[in-house]
Amino acid sequence: MTRRPRLTVFGTGYLGTAHAACLASLGFEVLGVDVDAARARALQAGTLPFYEPGLEPLLRAGLRAGRLAFTTSYPAAAEFGDVHFICVGTPQRPGSGGADLTQFESCFAGLAPLLRRPCLVVGKSTVPPGTAAAYGQRLPGAAPAGTGAELAWNPEFLREGHAVADTLRPDRIIAGVWSVRAEATLREVYAEPLAAGVPFLVTDPLTAELVKVAANAFLATKISFINAMAEVCEVTGADVLGLADALGRDPRIGGAGLRPGLGFGGGCLPKDIRALAARAAELGAGQALSFLHEIDAINLRRRTRLVDLAREAADGRLDGRRVGVLGVAFKPGSDDIRDSPALEVAARIRALGARVAVFDPAAMDRAGQVHPDLDYRGSVLGAARDADVLLLLTEWPEFAAADPMVLAKTVARRAIVDARHALDAAAWRDCGWDYRAPGRPGHPPGTPGAAAGRPAIVPRHDLGPRDAEVACLAGAI
Ligand code: UDX
Repeated sequence: MTRRPRLTVFGTGYLGTAHAACLASLGFEVLGVDVDAARARALQAGTLPFYEPGLEPLLRAGLRAGRLAFTTSYPAAAEFGDVHFICVGTPQRPGSGGADLTQFESCFAGLAPLLRRPCLVVGKSTVPPGTAAAYGQRLPGAAPAGTGAELAWNPEFLREGHAVADTLRPDRIIAGVWSVRAEATLREVYAEPLAAGVPFLVTDPLTAELVKVAANAFLATKISFINAMAEVCEVTGADVLGLADALGRDPRIGGAGLRPGLGFGGGCLPKDIRALAARAAELGAGQALSFLHEIDAINLRRRTRLVDLAREAADGRLDGRRVGVLGVAFKPGSDDIRDSPALEVAARIRALGARVAVFDPAAMDRAGQVHPDLDYRGSVLGAARDADVLLLLTEWPEFAAADPMVLAKTVARRAIVDARHALDAAAWRDCGWDYRAPGRPGHPPGTPGAAAGRPAIVPRHDLGPRDAEVACLAGAI
């Protein structure tokens, strides 16, 4: 292959679209493929069908340069590509914890019989262990190119909201390959990040696919660990923020992924840990990963705890109360509401009889399609108007910047539950708010955590009470 390899990307969700646009920006000719004709048309017209900062300009630049195009045609893609990346979704199978590989299977079954010349098929979708081996065995028999068509595994670790940066400058590139030729091809595709010093770890495809799910399982475990500690804090009166700060400074532990709060959600971590546990059980290693069920349970308990905190803040009942909700996306910087803890809490509170007014900077359209029963407002102030209790459920930066004095004039009662520890507790309390956050002390007498006063370790970002009062009076917060 003397010219640069031409690339195809099957599946144009968050992962596939970011991958296609980023590789086009590095000078490759890239063809994105999706079975959804409306999606392919929108992308071809330069419109991103979801919110991802920085991706739309890259998409448009690729289209303008003539290096990026989108199609629904598998024959066109098979004809075009030397390297075929498979980035289709692998959601949770309804009624079970296992992964639904229908999209992967239909992509493979549609593509393989069309592969007539030497090429590399690269799995990027997150799949349970054993998937790469099965497809690696099938490919030479299914493709007219025979052993000229080879499978590799190259998992993706991008975070939504950071998809462009994570794709162009990942922490590491995992090349799961069975041949020197496949390794050389992946080195050529990733020549630019490799030249910039990104580590390139060569392994076999079976290990590569496991790296991805193991990394997600570890991240989920870390998050649930600190949230389990928040539960302990709630009954002892300790402060989980001070605890997380102190733990994270130990280099053996590290502070990343140790933010307590409402727990993890989104299209990856929850379903990936369930799929890994389910496959491990099928393989006879269920006991090794049985702790993942507990990780999942801790995570889901946070949502229940938040509903309880909201009820406590609303004077013991939610029925008939007005509740203002800030944030329904599963995390800031994204419009993704898949398994969103924030949206689930908002919906549960609505189901308990509260009137729920919601604002989110990006996710309201998507949330409105699933939960038309919530009242969607155009701003933070709109969601807060006449609220008996305000809930901060997704830590968008604009929520952290909200002025407690201004909001105090809008709400019916100054009660806030900060599910993500995004606010300066002292500043809000000093402005007269009943401030509550999971795992933090300061609850009224008679509720869990009542024993505690100030945190034993004051987190670095907390202002002293006097500083907060001055800033508050000056209208600076
Ligand atoms: C995640 C992985 O990070 C990524 O490598 C993988 O490929 C896909 O899943 P993403 O879902 O975009 O990416 O989000 P991430 O930023 O990792 O956060 C996941 C969830 O955990 C969010 O709901 C977030 O709010 C929560 N979280 C994260 C915490 O509650 N505490 C933390 O300390 C970190």
